[in-house]
Parts: sequence; C-alpha cells; structure tokens
Amino acid sequence: MKRLETGPYKGTAYEVIGQGSPVMLIHGFPLDHSLWEKQRTALSKDHKLLLPDLPGTGKSPLPNPLGMEEMAASLREILLQEKIEKCVLIGHSMGGYVALAFAEKYPELLSGLGLFHSTAYADNETKKNGRRKAIKMIEEYGPERFLRNMIPNLYPVSLHKERKKEMEHLLKKRMEAGLEALIPYYKAMLHRPDRTAVLKQARFPVLFVMGEKDVVIPKKSILELSRLPRIAMIHLLKDTGHLGMLDKPEESNQILRHFVALCEAECS
Ligand code: MLT
Repeated sequence: MKRLETGPYKGTAYEVIGQGSPVMLIHGFPLDHSLWEKQRTALSKDHKLLLPDLPGTGKSPLPNPLGMEEMAASLREILLQEKIEKCVLIGHSMGGYVALAFAEKYPELLSGLGLFHSTAYADNETKKNGRRKAIKMIEEYGPERFLRNMIPNLYPVSLHKERKKEMEHLLKKRMEAGLEALIPYYKAMLHRPDRTAVLKQARFPVLFVMGEKDVVIPKKSILELSRLPRIAMIHLLKDTGHLGMLDKPEESNQILRHFVALCEAECS
C-alpha cells in the first residue's frame, strides 16, 4: 500500500495497480479496499486502478472531523499525489456517498461516477432513528454486537444460512481492523445531505448498480435516481444483496468495463 505523504489526510493508505485510464473504487461500510479483490486483477489489465482505504479504515488514520466531504478531500489528495487529472470514480454504498460529495466539490476531476448499491438521497427519519439506535448499541454493548446485527443485512435473507461462515469471517476481519471509526462513520452518514442535485447537474455519465435483494439500498430508490442524470447506465444484479461485486464478480467486472468505455467515449 502507498500512503498520502502530506496534507491533512497524511497517512491515508491506498493501492495503485495496473496501467491505463484511471479508475478509483471506493469501498463501503464497514469494509476496506479488499472489498474489490475480485475486480483487482480483471480491471487492472486495462486501467490504473486506485483502491483507497477510506480515512478511519484499515491503515488509514481517522481524521477529526470526519464527514463525506473530508473523505472526498482525501481522495482528491490521492489524485494529486498520483498526478491524475481525471478519473472514473465508483463508490459502493457509503463509498458512493463519498463519491457524490467528491462530484459536488471537484466535478472537473471526474470522467464518470458510479453508484454501486448506493444512493444520492439523504437518510429518511426511519433510517436516521436506526442509526441513532445503532450508535447507542455500540456505546452500551460494544461493536461486536452491533456488527453481528448489521453484517447479515449485506446478504439476501434467503442466503443467510448458506453464508454463515462468510459472515463470521467478515466479522472477525472487521473486529481485527480497528473499530474507533464505526461511530464517526455512522454519524457522518446520518448527517449527509441529499445530493440528487449532483446527479441532475452531472456532465459525465453516471452508473447505477442495483442488487435485486438488497435491503440496505432498495432498487426502487435507485430506479428513481437513474432518471436524473443526462447520461445514465443502469444494471440489476439478480439474486444479489448488497455485495454484488463479490457475489457476481464476472458480471460486475463486465458492467464496470462497459461503463468506463462509455466514459472514455463521452470524454473524447
Ligand atoms: C454501507 O454499506 O456502506 C452502509 O451500510 C451504507 C448505509 O448504512 O447507508
């Protein structure tokens, strides 16, 4: 892993692999850059792939304050350090909220924006209350209980039994990875604004990937959003929950390749 060498997000860790037009893949919560392990080899054949650990995750230090805007600023620092003028930015779930904050502040640095199981809407009251309860749970009972409750939501209900081992592995990995950012991330998500205007104003193509059985970001809300940008590409991953890049790697890689080709065609 490389690290940011200067600036307020010094130490933020990221991997750079491959040659070609730059593509940055941003992980969601409570994961790290290894979420994209099944895209790493396939996409780095034709692209310079950037895989950050968002501030507060993995080896990246936790800044204070932490919001979508600060995380977006750290990604801009990575592009500056790597001397990259424009890239395609794809964000998974919370990574998509960060990508939208980035697109709002630095649209000139983007040739395309991808929301992979993500949304531009702010949390509604039900979701906000759920987050407040989760924060209380972490404070009162510790992070393991919270993670045990939330990790199954990443998988389709019908696969919970079958994926028990995988969920336990994810829990173990997350418990080992440091937990101080869980509450700051939840607060950052709770306070993030609606960014539908970013989609309406986008001059670059926008990708939407939905999981048919995703309970975190239901496909209905993504379908509504997909009408907003001037150029949108939309895909439904069948029998998939919130982790399509792991569950349907070939199809996901194909979608990402097509999308990057579209962005390149639009740019030229
Ligand atoms: C994620 O997968 O990044 C989060 O679960 C998204 C969220 O809670 O809104």
